[in-house]
Amino acid sequence: MNDQQRQKRFWHPMGSAAAGHCGSTVVIARGDGNYIFDIEGHRTLDAVGGLWNVNVGHNRPEVKSAIARQMDELSYCQTFDGVAHPRVYELADRLCAMFKQEDMQRVMFGSGGSDAVETALKMARQYWIAAGEPARTKFLSLRNGYHGVHFGGTSIGGSGVFQYNHGPLLPGCVLLDTPWLYRNPWRCQDPDELVAHCIGQMEETIAFHGAHTIAAFIAEPVQGAGGVIVPPAAYWDSVRRVCDRSGILLIADEVVTGFGRTGSMLGSRGFGVAPDILCLAKGISAGYVPLGATMFNHRVAHAIENGDGFSHTIMHGYTYSGHPLACAAALAVLDIVEREALPANAGRVGQHLFERLLPLKREFETVGDVRGKGLMLALELVADKAGRTPLDSAEGVAARIAETARKRGVFVRAMTNKIVISPPLTLTLDEADVIARTLREALQTE
Ligand SMILES: Cc1ncc(COP(=O)(O)O)c(C=O)c1O
Repeated sequence: MNDQQRQKRFWHPMGSAAAGHCGSTVVIARGDGNYIFDIEGHRTLDAVGGLWNVNVGHNRPEVKSAIARQMDELSYCQTFDGVAHPRVYELADRLCAMFKQEDMQRVMFGSGGSDAVETALKMARQYWIAAGEPARTKFLSLRNGYHGVHFGGTSIGGSGVFQYNHGPLLPGCVLLDTPWLYRNPWRCQDPDELVAHCIGQMEETIAFHGAHTIAAFIAEPVQGAGGVIVPPAAYWDSVRRVCDRSGILLIADEVVTGFGRTGSMLGSRGFGVAPDILCLAKGISAGYVPLGATMFNHRVAHAIENGDGFSHTIMHGYTYSGHPLACAAALAVLDIVEREALPANAGRVGQHLFERLLPLKREFETVGDVRGKGLMLALELVADKAGRTPLDSAEGVAARIAETARKRGVFVRAMTNKIVISPPLTLTLDEADVIARTLREALQTE
């Protein structure tokens, strides 16, 4: 495979298509456990876990044989009205049992996180039609939030770069400030005060628009693509209370945080909150076969199932909703997640890794912040530590550090001026040490 073949025909998602652009590309040929191997055979610790999704590691025999068995039995079956197959029922039951504590009663399947979000937004609108308040159409979401790339998810997203080339977007999407201690408009350093500012702003915004116009608030329990932003402990509970007071639905986008990444089975559960709608993908099938799921609690399910006229009819779904191979893969993956207690491992190993990374903030002028929860961590690079001035990503420092780390055997992700770490939840303490040591070495080369 030569460079021209690699770069001519294929537009990379999230990359430049400029004619002269020839950024370097790592071609990965094989994966095994927590490691990936490039086409030259170099072995690298996969400290991004694919794309925050290979939660049980690569090449797990249990998952492969579940997919192969399903392939022999039934490789495809639709699940539109009147048709189903055994695995889709098994997975739906399994998910409702796993999220019983959140009162999740119904599930709709898609092929990934963007589908899960689109389904959540459309079904939130349908809920309000069924509940007799069709004027509730707006969505509240957070700056720096990422909710995938469909038009709905793009419209509620909190980073302009995903919107610049695709407008006009969905009307009625309103952004609130992120509960982010390191950077917030109030320059507030106290977690409780920050929650008070954010909740005050949320209440003012609801009052301005009128609760009767707002369908839902949607956010990631811990923001991922926006730079691994962990809210203060009290934030989610306060949001739940505001939603309850104003009737607004609470949607947790758990595409990254679902199935253990932050140290509990759901990110929202880790903050002691039960959402009305859950968006799931990534870890549900750990990257083996694409799958997304949107789950609804009793309130939403009951209203839609008992809606008048057309409002109980679900005119939404995909050819690949409930794909048999994806359901079989997910059932095998969830067995591993539960058997190996991966949420607990993510919490324990994640805390260990965080403690190993934290000293980098003292040691290096460019490391402004080290943050994370479970196995979802980031280093933020700054030009000036005291002023927290972000390092201009055009300088390419994060990209160079990631490249150096990769050459030394650890694959991390450079996102603008951040280095992001989201390894498989099967990561060991020793491997966490390797990640921290390698990043220190990479920072020393700058
Ligand atoms: C929180 C969140 N929601 C939605 C998505 C979109 O998922 P997908 O890329 O599978 O469509 C992502 C992807 O990273 C995500 O992080």
